[in-house]
Amino acid sequence: MAEEKGIETVKEKSSAGKPQGIEGEKQVKSAGDERSEERVEKLVEASQQSVVAAKNTMGEAAGRMEGPLGLDIGTSHIVVAQNKGRDVGTTKELNAFFTLPTGKFAKQILNQKEIKYYELDDLFYIIGYSAQNFANMFNVNLRRPMNQGVLSSNENEGIRIIEAILKSLIQKPKNFGEILCFGVPGDPIDEPGSSIYHESMIKRSIGSMGYTPISLNEGMAIVLSELSEDDFTGIGISMGGGMCNICLSYLSFPVITYSIPMGGDYIDAMVEKAVGEPATKVKSIKEEDLDLSKGPKNRVTTALHIFYDELIFKLLKSLQRVISSTDKIPKISNPIPIVLSGGTAMPNGCVEKFETMLKDIPLPIAISAVRLAEDPLNTTAKGALIMAMTEVG
Ligand SMILES: Nc1ncnc2c1ncn2[C@@H]1O[C@H](COP(=O)(O)OP(=O)(O)OP(=O)(O)O)[C@@H](O)[C@H]1O
Ligand SMILES: [Mg+2]
Repeated sequence: MAEEKGIETVKEKSSAGKPQGIEGEKQVKSAGDERSEERVEKLVEASQQSVVAAKNTMGEAAGRMEGPLGLDIGTSHIVVAQNKGRDVGTTKELNAFFTLPTGKFAKQILNQKEIKYYELDDLFYIIGYSAQNFANMFNVNLRRPMNQGVLSSNENEGIRIIEAILKSLIQKPKNFGEILCFGVPGDPIDEPGSSIYHESMIKRSIGSMGYTPISLNEGMAIVLSELSEDDFTGIGISMGGGMCNICLSYLSFPVITYSIPMGGDYIDAMVEKAVGEPATKVKSIKEEDLDLSKGPKNRVTTALHIFYDELIFKLLKSLQRVISSTDKIPKISNPIPIVLSGGTAMPNGCVEKFETMLKDIPLPIAISAVRLAEDPLNTTAKGALIMAMTEVG
């Protein structure tokens, strides 16, 4: 195998269980050429901005966007990132909906309160954060257009809901064909092709809004956003609501990408099963109260600790298996960092828990540090924007 500028390719260990989404050899071979240096320079320049986040409040008009955009269509949230000169501006909506039977009175109220909705087949589809308020009021669960990182097969209206949320966040671009880069999940280890349908549907929707859609692996977006000082070499992990996305990048090239279908939703559901508290209540305790650096204080936090342990264990085991079973890993001379992102990585002590468990589940590649992304809920959108900016320039 070729050796270029400190790149050695590890000899094949086993072809069994070879992970999907390995894109290494071809790209690693080209990593030393001038174009890749230029690319890294562009990426470094684009990643210098810090994030200024905003929640899209009810009734706020969608902005008419200029310049390339980054988009994260996650199981829980949809986030748009835009280049604002020195900063990256982000706006988010909840990726959820709620239906009500149509009626004149209800329509009046919805319009008065500037609630985001659309009407179809005798139903009002209330979308985004507005839907959460309704679900709380009626004491029922929100519905989600996506499940485990991709369009839900149980919701016929899924893509239309996502389109409606997108239209509430962004208008058609000022210049037709503006680049919009969006994050897509990696395929689960043993399920090649499982995100193709999702990716194609989102591409069509974005295209119909007047943008040129470009997809980017979600784990790679984490690397682009957080690892500029490491030459975009390291492991980016997005621990989201529906899944965890993992990418091992070498000099900005995704060598390994895959996902595991477990995230915050899994933790909520398992805690519900274990202790009998509704998942929505578990979710708010988890988001507001959980500190993984301290011992649990009640039944719910005990169960949360247990399922966090399980999630991180499965994540590390999968990483160990995938890296060990591929022949595509460049032998990198220095230890590489791991950066954790996404809402599920946010509780205090999560990074430390990950580091502690890493000692018992060592990876076949040396790790220099484990750190948390600067702004875990906006990292994917920022990474997608960085990609979009380099595609333009
Ligand atoms: N402070 C917090 N502590 C713990 N968990 C949190 C916190 N904030 C958000 N979460 C959890 O993070 C998850 C949402 O994270 P994120 O917005 O990164 O997911 P997503 O990108 O929409 O989903 P995915 O990437 O899986 O498709 C939810 O499970 C939520 O409960
Ligand atoms: Mg995500």
